[in-house]
Amino acid sequence: MVPEPVILDVDPGHDDAIAMMLACGAPELDVCAITSVAGNVSLEKTTRNALKVLSFVGRTDVPVGAGAAAPLARVLRTAEHIHGESGLDGADLPEPVLVPDGRDAVRLMADVVGESPEPVTLIPVGPLTNVANFLEEHPRLRQNIRRVVLMGGSIGPGNVTPAAEFNVYVDPEAARVVFESGLPTTMVGLDVTREATAGPEELERLRSLGRAGEVAAGLATYYYARAYRRTYGLAAPPIHDAVAVAAVVEPAILQTRSMRVDVECEGVLTRGETVCDVYGVTGGSPNAEVAVGLDREAFFEILFRSLEEI
Ligand code: RIB
Ligand code: CA
Repeated sequence: MVPEPVILDVDPGHDDAIAMMLACGAPELDVCAITSVAGNVSLEKTTRNALKVLSFVGRTDVPVGAGAAAPLARVLRTAEHIHGESGLDGADLPEPVLVPDGRDAVRLMADVVGESPEPVTLIPVGPLTNVANFLEEHPRLRQNIRRVVLMGGSIGPGNVTPAAEFNVYVDPEAARVVFESGLPTTMVGLDVTREATAGPEELERLRSLGRAGEVAAGLATYYYARAYRRTYGLAAPPIHDAVAVAAVVEPAILQTRSMRVDVECEGVLTRGETVCDVYGVTGGSPNAEVAVGLDREAFFEILFRSLEEI
């Protein structure tokens, strides 16, 4: 089995950090690069947090390209109320031993995709600004992109407004570029990630996995869990981003439906809504595989097994 080359585009964020660890521990994946984007916190902090995670897992071979400090056409909206001022409050991670690559996110994406002998899978788990910029600046490289598996959107209610999920809300114009790119796209939205909650049983299992599991449990327990309880009344936090990575490792953990997804960019109340044509009433051609079901147990087994590898 040849590992699938992937690039993670991240805005760490507690769940991004766990997603990065899953990707680095999964033998099915070859993490060619990490690119950072402003989202949960500022670009400076998401970049630093990505460097901290890679330093912790010992992947000093993986370049980190810093990307967009703001959305394409909007004022940045962040989520310190969930992730804390640092973006990883409460995390027991060492100071980074890595520095960002000399290339920015788009240049790094272009070099990795342009030079890869195998088509590369993009796994964006933050606002889609970097991916949109890359697709627009390097249209010819689209032919060497295998698929885009993104954490974002929602068929149903949002989490940052009643209509919109955070990643798409922050940069709806970028999300529209990605959904209209014509690339094979899987939308891993709140409809399924809300099932991926790390409760007492999962936390106990994580803590039994050694250093990476202990850190992941810490990420899920401390600040992030409390913030989710306070903000959404949830007993346990959903590890949104790790579901997108696990779905690349094993697509069968998701049940998906092919449908048209449009992104609302003009609405006031509905800015950033992923308008999913579940019943095909628009007649628009499907542009995404949208996740409608998650095999929760299989997801966590992939997470546990990957973290045990680190
Ligand atoms: O809505 C959840 C998404 O927004 C996750 O990617 C989380 O990290 C934040 O970026
Ligand atoms: Ca994220």
